[in-house]
Amino acid sequence: MRYSKILGTGGYLPEKVLTNHDLEKMVDTTDEWIVTRTGIHQRHIAADDENAVTMAEQAGRVALEAAGLKPDDIDMIIVTSTTPHMVFPSTACLLQERFGISGCAAFDLNASACAGFMYGFSIADQFIRSGMIKHALVIGSEVMSRVVDWTDRSTCVLFGDGAGAVVLGPTAEPGVLSTHLHADGKHKDVLYLPLGNNRTPNLESVKMMGNQLFKLAVNILGDLFDETLEANQMQKSDIDWLVPHQANIRIIQAMAKKLELPLDRVVTTLDKQSNTSSASIPLALDEAIRDGRIQRGQLLLMEGFGGGLAWGSALVRY
Ligand code: COA
Repeated sequence: MRYSKILGTGGYLPEKVLTNHDLEKMVDTTDEWIVTRTGIHQRHIAADDENAVTMAEQAGRVALEAAGLKPDDIDMIIVTSTTPHMVFPSTACLLQERFGISGCAAFDLNASACAGFMYGFSIADQFIRSGMIKHALVIGSEVMSRVVDWTDRSTCVLFGDGAGAVVLGPTAEPGVLSTHLHADGKHKDVLYLPLGNNRTPNLESVKMMGNQLFKLAVNILGDLFDETLEANQMQKSDIDWLVPHQANIRIIQAMAKKLELPLDRVVTTLDKQSNTSSASIPLALDEAIRDGRIQRGQLLLMEGFGGGLAWGSALVRY
């Protein structure tokens, strides 16, 4: 049997930090409201000369170094981004050029925003398992600050910028045990980002029905955990770490409760980073690996959900 495993991770956060107190001066909100309802204290904001490509490069280089690989060892680059630098060439192709490599498969994947990383991770896993490729670089890179309406207090307090990267490679022992992907387009109206017009694809800003989305997320993710554990004949008690999408601390707490996991077994970064959409899971993974919390051999449950709705999980022996 051939499996894929995580060989290295990397992350990048822009230097500029926007705190809740900064936001108090921009919209009718308070630090107390944001912290109580979301758990977010601050977010990072990309500089004018940064974009999804530059951030992906930073995170990708760190992940490659951690994996002990060079750019030309990579057989496939997948960038999950809803805020790409261009419609085309893809962020992945622009990144390939920055890495000074050519020939390997490179594409962007927009699986409805925040779920994107789980989709990219799953695709990379399938290609490695099947023997089609050896090494894949999967990067979530998002400049959410450019697609939120900075006058809309119900959305602008939630999002931030950053990039997270994972290098996957082949192994005889699992590795990635299973991945599970789903979508349901009937919930298209709870979270969406329209194009301004189709001839010149200038984006509008994120629209969200926060309350409905919150309830959907809690129900969907609960079922997703059951499915993931059942597929591997594992119990909640087998899980060492939950590495969740970072949308809201109350959703994360509900997920920890569902899994009967203490909160110190859940990787949480949204207090400092907010919701970086498809970058949030690899950023959280990278932080917990680098600070030594996540150790080789431990069992990780990763999950993401976002507009579409689309959602996905992976059970991974790190
Ligand atoms: N500051 C102060 N008040 C705010 C506010 C802000 N930044 N944003 C909204 N409010 C107000 C609303 O206007 C509303 O006021 P009203 O009762 O006078 O109409 C009130 O707070 C409550 O709004 P509500 O939407 O019911 O709050 P909530 O408890 O559902 O929390 C979210 C709002 C957005 C934090 C929460 O619904 C959420 O996190 N949802 C999921 C979002 C998500 O996961 N998004 C990303 C998916 S990938």
